[in-house]
Amino acid sequence: MPLYIQLAPLHGVTNRVYRDAWLASFGSLDSIMAPFVLAVAGSSDLRRHFKDLLPPPPWAATGVAPEKGLPPGFPPPLVPQLMGNESAVFAESARILRENGYAEVNWNLGCPYPMVAKKFRGSGLLPHPERIDRFLESLFLEPELPRISVKVRLGRADAAEWRSFMEVLNRYPLASVTVHPRLGTQMYRGSVNLEEYSLAAESCAHPVVYNGDITGLAAFARAAEAFPSLAGVMLGRGALSDPFLPARLRQAYPERFLSRGFLDPSPTGEVPVRGAPIPLRGSPEWLEAVGLFQDDLYRRYREVLSGPAHVLDKMKEAWGYLAQSLPGKRREIAELGRAKGFEDFERAVDRILER
Ligand SMILES: Cc1cc2nc3c(=O)[nH]c(=O)nc-3n(C[C@H](O)[C@H](O)[C@H](O)COP(=O)(O)O)c2cc1C
Repeated sequence: MPLYIQLAPLHGVTNRVYRDAWLASFGSLDSIMAPFVLAVAGSSDLRRHFKDLLPPPPWAATGVAPEKGLPPGFPPPLVPQLMGNESAVFAESARILRENGYAEVNWNLGCPYPMVAKKFRGSGLLPHPERIDRFLESLFLEPELPRISVKVRLGRADAAEWRSFMEVLNRYPLASVTVHPRLGTQMYRGSVNLEEYSLAAESCAHPVVYNGDITGLAAFARAAEAFPSLAGVMLGRGALSDPFLPARLRQAYPERFLSRGFLDPSPTGEVPVRGAPIPLRGSPEWLEAVGLFQDDLYRRYREVLSGPAHVLDKMKEAWGYLAQSLPGKRREIAELGRAKGFEDFERAVDRILER
């Protein structure tokens, strides 16, 4: 079975606008997981609360009809993620998402922020398998749920925590388990623990998705070697820095991935043709493609956000990741970071893109 490529959720970054712009420029993904939204019940203004997800974009529509060609074992094109620890509240939010066409909802068990973890949410639940058990036991008694998947780390403060919580996860009919092999207390620092990941993945009864620090082909090869029978890979910062990374993986490992992204709704989307050159990171062709993406993203943000401060915040965040592919352009990128108005920003972008 082919592996799927899913874009990771990055709260504040990979929002609705960013996802649409990405797909229009790069495609090559099989699925996207949306950043977490807090599970709510009985809120009067659900459209507002779920504004990143409702209404669903047209390209997510296949999510309700897997018979429309979704390859076996693949997640729907867009998977919303909920954060919470009360099953009834979670179920109510999940049902609303399902009614709107989302066939799968992910439970966030990885968020590392102390404010979140302290409240027994995100990675704060990992040291408490009995709470995870109670949550899932009552969740799966709820009617009309979408499929449920989870995204975990190896533990909150101890890389052995997975031994207890995985045994709990194995008892419920989860669609998949995405493993980010760090600890919650590490945030995004330090390195991923592939040895412990490999043991955790072996002991998981569900399809396993690897996530963490895949920035190129070698990092993918290491993750795939640690657990060869994985179901998919989730790409976060690596893909945001080099948006051609999904296409590179497809081209380098034709036996492991579909030849093009399942989720490739855009007629202008780049489809990685076998053997066709994929622009090298930072090359003139890369800069040109990234330039078109940046212009499109900028236009979309200016349409929906008011005032330069909000638009520039979002654009600087996106550039923060792209900048990692441009080590020789520190000065230009610092200039972009200082931009206060649209004109300064556009000038800095043109200098980075050499246009
Ligand atoms: C700014 C930021 C926001 C994130 N938001 C979420 C989120 O909403 N939900 C989630 O499960 N993970 C979130 N993550 C974690 C990523 O999805 C991913 O697990 C992590 O970045 C490791 O993968 P990578 O090395 O491929 O980026 C976030 C990470 C960052 C850096």
